Amino acid sequence: MCGITAYIGKGQALPFLMQGLEKLEYRGYDSAGVTVLNNNQLTTVKCKGRLKNLEEALKGHDMTGSVGIGHTRWATHGIPSNLNSHPHNNADGTLSIVHNGIIENYRELKDILIDKGYKFQSQTDSEVVVQCLDYFYKRGGDLMDAVHKVLNCIEGSYALCIIATKEPDKIIVAKKNSPLVVGKTEEGYVAASDIPALLAYTKEVYFLGDDEMAVLTKDDVHFYNRRNEELHKDITVIPYTLESAQKGGYDTFMLKEIHEQPTAIRETMRGRIFNGRLVFDELKDVDFTKFNKVYYIGCGTAYHACLCGAQIFELENHVPVFAQYASEFRYGNPIIDDKTLCVFCSQSGETADTLAALKLAKEKGCTTISVVNVLGSSIARASDVALYTAAGPEIAVASTKAYTTQIVLLSLFATYVAQELGYPVDEDLLTQMDKIPNYVEALLKDDPIFEGYAKKLENQHDCYFIGRRLDYASVMEGALKLKEVSYVHADAYVGGELKHGAIALIEEGTVVVAVATQPDIAAKTISNIEETIARGADVILFTTDQFDTSAVKTVYRLPNVNPLLMPLLVAIPMQLLAYHTAVIKGRDVDKPRNLAKSVTVE
Ligand code: AGP
Ligand code: GLU
Repeated sequence: MCGITAYIGKGQALPFLMQGLEKLEYRGYDSAGVTVLNNNQLTTVKCKGRLKNLEEALKGHDMTGSVGIGHTRWATHGIPSNLNSHPHNNADGTLSIVHNGIIENYRELKDILIDKGYKFQSQTDSEVVVQCLDYFYKRGGDLMDAVHKVLNCIEGSYALCIIATKEPDKIIVAKKNSPLVVGKTEEGYVAASDIPALLAYTKEVYFLGDDEMAVLTKDDVHFYNRRNEELHKDITVIPYTLESAQKGGYDTFMLKEIHEQPTAIRETMRGRIFNGRLVFDELKDVDFTKFNKVYYIGCGTAYHACLCGAQIFELENHVPVFAQYASEFRYGNPIIDDKTLCVFCSQSGETADTLAALKLAKEKGCTTISVVNVLGSSIARASDVALYTAAGPEIAVASTKAYTTQIVLLSLFATYVAQELGYPVDEDLLTQMDKIPNYVEALLKDDPIFEGYAKKLENQHDCYFIGRRLDYASVMEGALKLKEVSYVHADAYVGGELKHGAIALIEEGTVVVAVATQPDIAAKTISNIEETIARGADVILFTTDQFDTSAVKTVYRLPNVNPLLMPLLVAIPMQLLAYHTAVIKGRDVDKPRNLAKSVTVE
């Protein structure tokens, strides 16, 4: 789940490597390091902690060199430490690698190499790659031959960048189940885990597929499959700017991304509704009549979007729909076949559990549709059809604009299927959907109100969220947002379940955030809220103007739109409540502890 960078060209490697790592720090930030190659010598500097520690550590080192690789780590094997940081080099300092992913059979390989006399410096799984490479390279052949042999030995996931003093004119990169893109710049060629790392240098990129490799030189790039056959790849021009991947005047990426939602929602809707009809050309070859069961699958926030999408799909299409966490689906022996439709939702398109769930669904013959935000990401490429949200790069670890755009796309998708199956299309949903960006804009203007609510949480250790049906999906997301950025313990409960246990937690002054927007069930939720008020709870209620809330002191009235779209509006105060609580508590909003943006390991 780390970020890697690589540079080969006419200029200096270090500036590219460092700016790239800075853009990728959201992917992992427990240590960082770089290697540059100059005059047939490798210089590696690496250390525990954030990138600024590496900047300090680099002072006093001559890092001249026009070939180099860099890494910012999110440890999976071995604690964050100087020695466990990447790059990893062989004993005589002639080979250097950076690795993103997990080498699953590293213990076995390590034992074999130790038997052959190899000494390991680190506790990481990654170090076996460089030691194994050393073993094969020293037995003859060129670097490419040795890399092929290593890839035949290792199991698991990897994005790798490799340099060698004996072949100083190239960088070899390889990928399987971890992201890697190659960029063409005016100076030469670069590679990185994600596009923002390249944007200051180029918008022209090549996407590497699984089991593919590339050899980068300062003048050229060649792509190969695992059989060493050369592959032709076309350049993709990235449509967004570096500025859009930066903070743009806001204090944090999270706040910026919250405020980008009106645009992101508009962009995601763009071209999808024409003359009252839904347009999804990507889906024209899918026969929706054959499905007798539908799964919606994702992790974390994306799973919460699935909860919304699944309810809307079931309601509109009269077919049983199940929403599942990808990590449960993949190990749950699901009863699925060619009559099952599986919808995978993922901002990054790289989440390991979601990707594995997708592979399982494909193996079992299901039709797979993904809803992803990152162009050309692994999940997008592996699914039968990829539908893209247009949220733009989401940098803050806490997902905001990706979530609302996922709900938009999933709602439109469900309605499109209804249209294709001949069910009545929910025209009200389409008309109201058009107005959502304006309502979101209005809600963002009420930010000071939500900041006021956040003050109630300043000294709270716990906070409980209550809702039912679609409002339950909204409070699950609200609770996740609060805990991940503010570290306030937050749990979401179905209103009807409170009396079966959780109400025991309510005492004088406990803050309860309640959402009651669904006309058929809101009164029930409001009754549940009254039960908590009777036990001393301090309730903040988000509802519309349709319900009697006289028992509740703190009530925020949301615009009254089609109930199926209410999760899009509820999301805004939930995000801002979490955001301001985190700020009040002095948290690192964009990079919460223990989390990483892209969870490319299990
Ligand atoms: C969101 O706030 C979280 N950081 C996390 O739950 C995230 O949504 C989850 O890891 C799934 O990521 P994806 O959408 O990139 O697959
Ligand atoms: N598994 C490797 C390690 O723990 C790489 C982790 C990462 O992708 O950052 O060092």
